Amino acid sequence: MFFGKGGLLQTLFLPGYANAGADTSYQVVPSLAAEDVEVVVPSMETIQRFAPKVWMVEGPVVSFYGFPYPTRMVVIQLTDGSAWIWSPIALTEELASYIVKIVGPVKYIVSPNYLHWLFLKEWQEKFPEAKVFASPGLAKRKVAQDVNFFADLTSDARFEFSSDIDHIIFEGGVMDEVVFFHKSSRTVIFCDLIQRHFEDDQVGWKGWLMRSDGLVGPMGSTPKEWSFVFWLHGLLPKARLTLNVILEEWKPEGMIIAHGEVAPSGACVIIENSLSWIPKDTSKSCWCCSPKTSHEAT
Ligand SMILES: [Fe+2]
Repeated sequence: MFFGKGGLLQTLFLPGYANAGADTSYQVVPSLAAEDVEVVVPSMETIQRFAPKVWMVEGPVVSFYGFPYPTRMVVIQLTDGSAWIWSPIALTEELASYIVKIVGPVKYIVSPNYLHWLFLKEWQEKFPEAKVFASPGLAKRKVAQDVNFFADLTSDARFEFSSDIDHIIFEGGVMDEVVFFHKSSRTVIFCDLIQRHFEDDQVGWKGWLMRSDGLVGPMGSTPKEWSFVFWLHGLLPKARLTLNVILEEWKPEGMIIAHGEVAPSGACVIIENSLSWIPKDTSKSCWCCSPKTSHEAT
């Protein structure tokens, strides 16, 4: 009971995950303390083309239990000319119009993990014809009760967009994460499993904690408390199998993440390093001494 969902361990070390059923975790903040960061309002300047048919849009900074988290969404133009949206940021009429005009009608909206729900409702209201897909566990959360989900994302399921975008799920004990792969551009999309927050944004004691948790800079990784839960729940072998699919079958070239520095190239090396806590030989590993790979992140 201490280590199950909502148990003591999460309460102590994983406040965001432990309270996932409550109306907490990510929150929009009109302003943050001066030592934090400025709120960024989505504008046309925040839209960047990442790869052919793939765009990123930078969103407002939100608070995750007091820690400033920049947000980012991904828009992909599918083969049929429609728009597929990953982890939508705050909606503006300008942004919605731009996507429809430049990319196409919004047909699918996906949540990559159950902490990324914040703006699903407003995007669904703007695009009621779009099919909204829930990450594992999200449909049961109180915060998402107003969202009309079309389906849950599960490992074996294939959807209308799967011919363009593959997906696989890391079972993470307290939270599962859906990783996507846009085939034609060879772009992989992680959410919270790999975090590479920008150095300049990390100030004061919160910055120190973020660095201590291994979430800052090019060598960013997974929150240590979350990787510990993988080990605790015996999920490292499954995680390695999932990771091997990404590295050996998908072989991505570019990598987009929700928080921090993206990588237009060299994704496999970066992923291998960032997730080096998932050992290659899971029979000879423990959480605290998983070997680093010999490669250096680029
Ligand atoms: Fe996140």
